[in-house]
This record gives sequence, C-alpha cells and structure tokens, in this order.
Amino acid sequence: MCGIVGYIGKREAFPILLSGLKRLLYRGYDSYGFALINNGKEIVCFKKPGKLDNWESRLLKMKFEGKIGIAHSRWSTHGEPSELNAHPHWDCQKNIYLVHNGIIENYQTLKSILEKEGHKIISETDTEIIVHLIEKFYKGNLERAVMEALKLLEGAYGLAVVHKNQNRIIAARKGSPLIIGIGKGEMFVASDAAAILKHTKKVVYLKDGEVANITANKFRVRNLDGKKVEKEVEEIKWTLGQIEKKGFKHFMLKEIFEQPESLENALRGRLKQSKIKLSLDIDINSIKRIIVVSCGTSWHSALITKHLIEGFTRIPVEVDYASEFRYRRPVVKKGDLVVGISQSGETADTLGAMREAKARGAKTLGIINVVGSTISREVDSGIFLHAGPEIGVASTKAFTSQLMTLSLLALYIQQERGNKVNREILRELKNIPSKVEKILENTRAIKKIAKKFKDSKGFLYLGRGVNFPIALEGALKLKEISYIHAEGYPAGEMKHGPIALIDKNMPVLFLATKSCTYDKIMSNIQEIKARKGKVIAVVNRNDKRIRKIADYIIEVPKTEEYLSPILNTISLQLLAYHIADLRGIDPDYPRHLAKSVTCE
Ligand code: F6R
Repeated sequence: MCGIVGYIGKREAFPILLSGLKRLLYRGYDSYGFALINNGKEIVCFKKPGKLDNWESRLLKMKFEGKIGIAHSRWSTHGEPSELNAHPHWDCQKNIYLVHNGIIENYQTLKSILEKEGHKIISETDTEIIVHLIEKFYKGNLERAVMEALKLLEGAYGLAVVHKNQNRIIAARKGSPLIIGIGKGEMFVASDAAAILKHTKKVVYLKDGEVANITANKFRVRNLDGKKVEKEVEEIKWTLGQIEKKGFKHFMLKEIFEQPESLENALRGRLKQSKIKLSLDIDINSIKRIIVVSCGTSWHSALITKHLIEGFTRIPVEVDYASEFRYRRPVVKKGDLVVGISQSGETADTLGAMREAKARGAKTLGIINVVGSTISREVDSGIFLHAGPEIGVASTKAFTSQLMTLSLLALYIQQERGNKVNREILRELKNIPSKVEKILENTRAIKKIAKKFKDSKGFLYLGRGVNFPIALEGALKLKEISYIHAEGYPAGEMKHGPIALIDKNMPVLFLATKSCTYDKIMSNIQEIKARKGKVIAVVNRNDKRIRKIADYIIEVPKTEEYLSPILNTISLQLLAYHIADLRGIDPDYPRHLAKSVTCE
C-alpha cells in the first residue's frame, strides 16, 4: 500500500519520479508528492491530494530541478487525503524530507514526547513523527540519525529519506517492501519493481531491519545495530511490455484477456507424461493436516483448495482468513502444513500468519505470484504462479492461476502419497486455457446483462460446493469496482433467511454448470423464480433445462466439476468489469482500495 520511488544520479530526477509514480498508482492514489534536492542548495517539494493523472500535464510544465529526489503515492491510513497529510513530510527546519509506507503503531506516544520537546507536528499522519525523530537525532550523519529514529518505532515501514545537504538517499524497511535498483552511475529506490523497470532490472531486495545508504554510484546496507550486511544483486524477470495496457481500455480488461496465456504459464513444465512435477522441499507423506491462510480473492482460492485437497487426498484441510488466524492462538503443530496464498506475496496479514505458523513448528508453503516478494522468501517451500504482473487492483488472472496451481498441488499430493491420480482431471487441466479463450471470444451476452442491471441496488450470487467460493468471488468483484452491494451465498442456504430479499428488482446470479448438485440448483432457481427474482444463470453450452426458466443465460464450455470454478469466474469478472465501466468507474482505481495491502 502506498508507492515509493526515489532517484539519485546524473539525470534530472523529476521525469523519472513522475513516470515511476504513474506505475505505482495501483498501490494507492489518494494523494501524491515529490521532494527534490536542487543542486545541494534547497529542497523543492510539491504535493497534492487526488490522483496523479489529474495533474500530470500541469506538472510537466513546471520545471522541478534536481538530481536527487523521492516521491510517494498515498493510500490513506492516518488522516484524510489532503495536501497536509500527503507525503513527503518534513522536519521543523525543512531540511529533511521523508516518504513512508506502513503504519507506526506507537506514533501517539512519540508525538507527545516530540511536541513536549518543541517539535511542531502539522499533519494528522503517523508518518510525520518519523521525520521529526530523525531531526532530533541528526548531527551531520543522516544514516545514523535514521537508525536511531527507527529503533524507537513500533509498526511497519518502508521509507526513503533525503537531507538538503547530503548527496544520498537513506532507505529502510520493516514489514513493507523496498528495493534498490542499480543503474550505471545512478541508483533507484522503490516499493515495487514496476516503478523502475524502465531503467534497470538489477535490484537488491531489502530485508526487515535493514537500512541502505544510497549514493549515485554505490550503496551499502546495514542492520539497525550498524552491522554491514552483504546483499545479492538479483535480476527482475518481468518486461516493460507486461506492465503496459497494450491497447486495452483498462489493465483489468487486459488481464482478463491474458488468462489463456497466464493459465498456460501456470502449467508449463509441470505436467510431463501424466506426471506432475513440482519441486517442493516438503515431505508430503508426513503431512497430517493442511491449513490454508490468505485474504480477499486469495481466500476464495483457499476455500476451493479445501475441496481439491480433501477431495483428492482425504487429508483434512482448514481454511482461515489470515487476519483471524494470527490473533486467535491457533492450534498449529509439527506435522501441519500451512499454505499461504498471495498474489503480491506482501499482504501483511498473510505474511504475519505464515510467520506465526512457522514459529509454532508447522512447515510453510507459499503460492505466490511476485518473485522476490517477502512471503516467497520466508516460506519453507513455494510455487510461483507465473501469471506476470497484475496491475488492476481487482485480482483476475492471479486468481485463475492460483486455482490452476492449487489443482496441480492437490494432484501432486495424491501422486506423491502413492494414490491413484485422478486421470480425467489431469487430462482436462491442459484443455482449460483454450476453453477460457472460447469464453473470451464471445462476451455479447455478458455485456447485455451488464447494461440491463448496471443500475441495480443489489446483487446476489449463488453457488454450491466448489462453486460457492466463486459466488463469493463474483460478489466481491462486483462490489469492489462498481460499488453495487453484492452478496455471495451458498444456494442451499437461501431458504434459511436471505430469500426474504427477493423481489422483482433483485438480480440473482446462479453458478449452475454441471455438478453433483445440479438438480438441487435447479430447485433453488425455481424458488427464486417463484418470488419473481431475476435469474441470471451461468450454464454449460446446450443446457436446455435451465435455459427454459432463467431470464438470462451465460454459456461456458463443459469441464470437470473440480475445474469449473476457473471457467465460471471469467464471466463474473467480465460482468463486474462492464457494469463498472458503464457506471463510469475506472475499475483499475476503485475508491478506497489499493493493490498489495501491507498494513493490518
Ligand atoms: C480483490 C483483491 C484482494 C486481494 C487481497 C489479497 O480483487 O485483489 O481481495 O486478493 O488483498 O491480496 P494478495 O493475494 O496479494 O495477498
């Protein structure tokens, strides 16, 4: 959450910071700001509430000079989006400027101490106290002052600091990602590789508790005790083309249409002559129980994982919200495998849950998209999704890649435990990318439904079994990007209460593809029709029975029931996308949201 980019080198920093920030908008867009050191004389600072895009052309006309600078795009935690609360923040003398991601939990205590000492704190943010602490400790050595200040902080931070008279950027992290980008005679600092990919692919990942002292030609990293830390330079595999819109109106739409390819990538090299190849550092035979933890859309993948693993292997699986798991003293022990699912690999709750599990003696496995992310580095073993960068705030291609990867994992556990592997599913996995392509070839029915229901006050999504989590996911997609209230529910539970909501204005979307509960779903559709609800049904091609009773039909190709969530979710992504677009909402930047939630 929030984006940071910094530059030090021979070039003018402003255009580099501006283009970097634009790449980081998906991390927060409540306000933005820059601070540039102008020839070692003064610091120029500019910040505004609102989204950077609205100001870009005016900013480009202003001449901000300086070869060292830091910039920030904010997702508000403490204090509303305003100019005062926007980053960078500065000290009393306006010598030191700082940008920060994360939350400082003891900021109130520190604030009263600082105020008693005469510091004037002008914003409502937790961030501002950090820069005053640095000022307090500054005696000519910025790195040392930052370290002293950090020792007093409780909470999370990824931060970058500059001082008017110092040719350097000091960067530090604890719980919020930060990387150093290495160029020729220039260096970058960023919360996210996307911000600097245009300039370099060579990066160093900072770990929690590390502080980097960065000049144009070199960097050094120390821990908070001042001990030097050797760092490895790594190469980012993503290309610039992958983070462009490529002619699509929105990143979300592009990413929906990328799914045939991202699903192929999830399979690539992992299926060989009916054998599943996953290199896991885990003794599969010693697993007694599996616990899956994650958040949001990734939590919906976790719910489906329970069906897959229990269905294929009979190993008991528990699913938990990562944010709940951490704080309820979970019963976790040796013999448990804790699986963390996360697109970003940075979600604070999931990271915290995985650390908790490890501390309690469980083995940990990460199902992650972003290579180099914190969770992927800390788990005992991991499987990458290879979905490519996901920029749209609403997760789409990462979700289907999770489902594909988790299906492989369930089959792999079956295989490694010497059980007969489910051949039909194994065979069908390879057909999924082309079936997704078929759905994407004709989206007319979905657009028509979007037009019809774009002004609805509410939506219900109903499913059973392995498609109940898809009902939850369809509802989440709709509410987060269109702001229409939507609820996902198990279809069989309607009669226990929510059916009271049904009237002629209520659209009810059923996941009604072929399954072991198909006849039950038929009855549930009848129950809604009898109460005049409007039924939209996702069905298999040539389904004549439901076609007769549903008001609207979305057809998808037939597949194995366990894999049907992958196909069924595509139409729901498109439906949410088109409704948001028709309502004039930019689905890439829905209000109050940000990609990669690095605070609790
Ligand atoms: C919804 C969405 C979020 C994320 C959640 C977890 O469309 O994207 O609900 O799924 O914040 O994020 P990751 O998977 O990065 O841990």
